[in-house]
Amino acid sequence: MIFWIFVFTIHPAWLYTIGSEDESSSSSIEDASGTGPGAGGGSRWQRREAVTVVDSLQDQQQQQQADQQHRSLPSFVDVLPPGPFFDLERSGNVTALVGRPAKLNCRVNKIGNRTVSWLRHRDTHLLTVGRYTYTSDQRFRALHTPGSEDWALTVDFAQVRDSGLYECQVSTTPPMRHYITLNVVEPYTEILGLPELYINRGSSINLTCVVHYTPEPPTYVIWKHNDKVISYDSERGGVSVETVKGPQTTTNLLVRRAMEHDTGNFSCHPSSASPASVIVHILNGEHPAAMQHGGHSAYEVSWLLLLVAVTFQTVLSISIPELMLTHENT
Ligand SMILES: *[C@@H]1O[C@H](CO)[C@@H](O)[C@H](O)[C@H]1NC(C)=O
Ligand SMILES: *[C@@H]1O[C@H](CO)[C@@H](O)[C@H](O)[C@H]1NC(C)=O
Ligand SMILES: *[C@@H]1O[C@H](CO)[C@@H](O)[C@H](O)[C@H]1NC(C)=O
Ligand SMILES: *[C@@H]1O[C@H](CO)[C@@H](O)[C@H](O)[C@H]1NC(C)=O
Repeated sequence: MIFWIFVFTIHPAWLYTIGSEDESSSSSIEDASGTGPGAGGGSRWQRREAVTVVDSLQDQQQQQQADQQHRSLPSFVDVLPPGPFFDLERSGNVTALVGRPAKLNCRVNKIGNRTVSWLRHRDTHLLTVGRYTYTSDQRFRALHTPGSEDWALTVDFAQVRDSGLYECQVSTTPPMRHYITLNVVEPYTEILGLPELYINRGSSINLTCVVHYTPEPPTYVIWKHNDKVISYDSERGGVSVETVKGPQTTTNLLVRRAMEHDTGNFSCHPSSASPASVIVHILNGEHPAAMQHGGHSAYEVSWLLLLVAVTFQTVLSISIPELMLTHENT
């Protein structure tokens, strides 16, 4: 009993040190909330912290009283309903998009008079206690409706650096802890498979482009070949595109009967994410066809010419692009 009287006596003094500008007299709460990225300091912030600390200490005192009662009355503890406990189904890991709000929920059943706090594990930064926000990073907020079992932590404009482990702590003795992983992701685009593809002449080029983590499906996805938009109704023929929009948008480009001029850089450009590309080499027998960067298109080249070109290439050791240029100029 003497110990608890001591604790209650020391609290006003403690409050005073936290409320004052004296940074050196640190308590555990100040340690957790006064440091870390974005802890701006300043007098406004100091006041905000002081107010929340008062409230939290009152909570703690009530809690200590309650715990003290429980300890001194073991028979009473036995008849108490069990709890608190976490509802793990409603307190799961979170994947959020960069720049969007993220909401980490912690559902605690039978919480009684206990308080829920949120801590960032990386730097053991105390973010919220009950309905109060402790951090100076204005993007973090405690979200709780009185009477509800949900104690959420919201992050406005989530950043990749916010990713990591967060702790939902209930003020039992010892504290109950539940860890939630926040994963903040950026949209990205990929073409499945290797960054370079080798296709036999006459075979199909089949490319699949996947757009990950866009807030909404892209309004369009464009395919380009050597930086020129591929048009599906061109004379080239044999080109088809199939796009399936959704949480993960997939577009498939199929180019039938690949020819030497199909060699080059194929890229996929979604309206709302960065592009992705793949280099396609058309194998002409044993050797990959030379890379094409020229302006003329494959659609103008007839199969007969190609056959002639192949013959000339073998006999005279001149390259196909050179021959085609000669053909165009005459
Ligand atoms: C949450 O994420 C962590 C770390 O990635 C993992 O160990 C844990 O199993 C995940 N929990 C659930 C419920 O998926
Ligand atoms: C919460 O504390 C108050 C007094 O502060 C008490 O009257 C009430 O019974 C307590 N409730 C629970 C569920 O412990
Ligand atoms: C192209 O590739 C996709 C994904 O690998 C596959 O589902 C599809 O059937 C292929 N299309 C053709 C015509 O081979
Ligand atoms: C292929 O084209 C894309 C988009 O135009 C470009 O970003 C990429 O650098 C190109 N790749 C190569 C190897 O030239």
